[in-house]
Amino acid sequence: MAKEIRTIGVMTSGGDSPGMNAAIRAVARACAYYNVKCIGFYRGFQGMIEGDHCVLNARSVRNIISSGGTILKSARSEEFRTPAGRKKAARHLKELEVDAMVLIGGDGTFRGGQIFSEEYDISVIGVPGTIDNDIAGTNYTIGYDTALNTVIDAIDKIRDTASSHDRLFFIEVMGRDSGFIALNTGVGAGAEEILIPEEDMGLDRLLESLKRSKRSGKSSSIVVVSEGDKIGKNVFELADYVTENLPDYDVRVTVLGHVQRGGSPTCFDRTLASRLCVKAVESLLDGEKNVMVGLLNNEIKMTSFEKGLKEDHGVNKELLRISDILST
Ligand code: F6P
Repeated sequence: MAKEIRTIGVMTSGGDSPGMNAAIRAVARACAYYNVKCIGFYRGFQGMIEGDHCVLNARSVRNIISSGGTILKSARSEEFRTPAGRKKAARHLKELEVDAMVLIGGDGTFRGGQIFSEEYDISVIGVPGTIDNDIAGTNYTIGYDTALNTVIDAIDKIRDTASSHDRLFFIEVMGRDSGFIALNTGVGAGAEEILIPEEDMGLDRLLESLKRSKRSGKSSSIVVVSEGDKIGKNVFELADYVTENLPDYDVRVTVLGHVQRGGSPTCFDRTLASRLCVKAVESLLDGEKNVMVGLLNNEIKMTSFEKGLKEDHGVNKELLRISDILST
């Protein structure tokens, strides 16, 4: 028989993402609705290790649905990678009588949750929260949509000045190992080229494409580069390379950086966070554990951590073809 769940813990871990507060709110409110105690841990796994926590009732999460960041703060904990760290965390959860945890974060968070639940009798459910959208088991992660809109807004502004000065801009977007942000904003903002970690486009192709656009009468261009792009050069090196080989181009670089992780979440991210977290709490109460909750074809589905972490939820490379056609 599944153990009775009387207290559920929640934390946010890894790189923060817009919508994490909406997620915390949904966990706390669902717990209140089902008469379950809710405890929030600060700074992800580190707060669990240190026992740094607060009790969350329905009112403690008022007015946070619209705010970026995370009221529980976030961190990447080195200590939790060690058995000793996890032991401390388990001890604190036991002292606080926490029966189950909702872990909001990316793949590193899920990996930590998987090991932890194998070692200790704690039911764990992962909720995908990262701007990178690089988690199998969901079509969308919380924060990704907001980040896309932040990036599009920035590129549109850069395009104005690029056009006034007839310049070529290299714009670096986040996504260490994944090109979701680059690919979708590149198409959405009408970029000349999109460079992503999943595909080696080659420097020759980049030069050819830029020469072609000059010939076709374009006076300004945007190249969107994912921070982990496969050509292996960072955005400044790419800009130097193009300047050396195509001196006609007046090249500038913009690194969008952490601006992509902030801001008020879009309606999509708020709704996604709300749906996933209500389901996470309900599933824990139903005895579910060691799974992640995700949105697949607009249905909320559970995927085992093992499958979710193993499978590659690849970017849609068809978008590269679309981009090629539309940058003619
Ligand atoms: O995983 C989310 C992410 O924003 C990545 O896109 C990026 O590479 C990384 O976090 C940056 O991490 P930090 O905030 O530690 O610099």
